[in-house]
Amino acid sequence: MEHDIRISQGQSMLAEMLADDIVKMVGANKTYINPFSLALSGGRTPDLLFSVLGKKYNDEKLWKNTAFFWVDERCVPPDDPESNFRKAFELFFKKTDIDHSRIHRIRGEDNPVQEAGRYSAEIAENTVLRNGWPLFNLVLLGLGEDGHTASIFPGNEKLFESSVVCEVARHPVTLQERVTITGRVINNAELVFFLAAGRSKAQIVSKILLGSADNELFPASLVKPVNGKVVWYLDQEAADEL
Ligand code: 6PG
Repeated sequence: MEHDIRISQGQSMLAEMLADDIVKMVGANKTYINPFSLALSGGRTPDLLFSVLGKKYNDEKLWKNTAFFWVDERCVPPDDPESNFRKAFELFFKKTDIDHSRIHRIRGEDNPVQEAGRYSAEIAENTVLRNGWPLFNLVLLGLGEDGHTASIFPGNEKLFESSVVCEVARHPVTLQERVTITGRVINNAELVFFLAAGRSKAQIVSKILLGSADNELFPASLVKPVNGKVVWYLDQEAADEL
């Protein structure tokens, strides 16, 4: 699978470039019948992106036909520092008048198994189906140094073949429970933007983009949208071993 790769000098320029491209994609969505479905990743890397969106793109008119989702959430309350929703809200959504009915957060405060079922239904109710799976126009993914993406960790690759939209996962080190979308949903997306920054990601980025003997051990290498495309957004440090 070919990969488009966009490299910026530093993390601030990377956030600007990614924000500009996301807004372009959203703006290009002229089919006003269905909202543009955008799934956001968590972790620390997107913080700068959310800051740029909150400062430069906070006009709610830009987003009037966009539905926001998350690719995963830690099973914590929405005001917890660990919450993926909380950071996006504080840095971006709080600075806009986007109708909250189009911001579909994962309820990390609720029972994980019940929430995985509820959120699967919420996604299905607010997206169109393609190939029998919810269609995301754009999925933003992060990348862990161990090759995980969303909350699909090494050893849990079976989540790429799951027959359900969301499942409960567990962080292998902290044992923290997560609700995550599964691989078939990710690979049903029209477009996947991978975001990785910093020297600590250089090795895993290189292994996934250039291949390596143990490549199959990395869930992120299983992201191969069936009818879609992957674009990698890297800063110079994360691209250092390409
Ligand atoms: C999460 C993310 C996860 C993240 C990677 C990278 O909830 O943590 O969805 O997949 O994108 O772990 O995290 P950093 O951006 O913090 O390195």
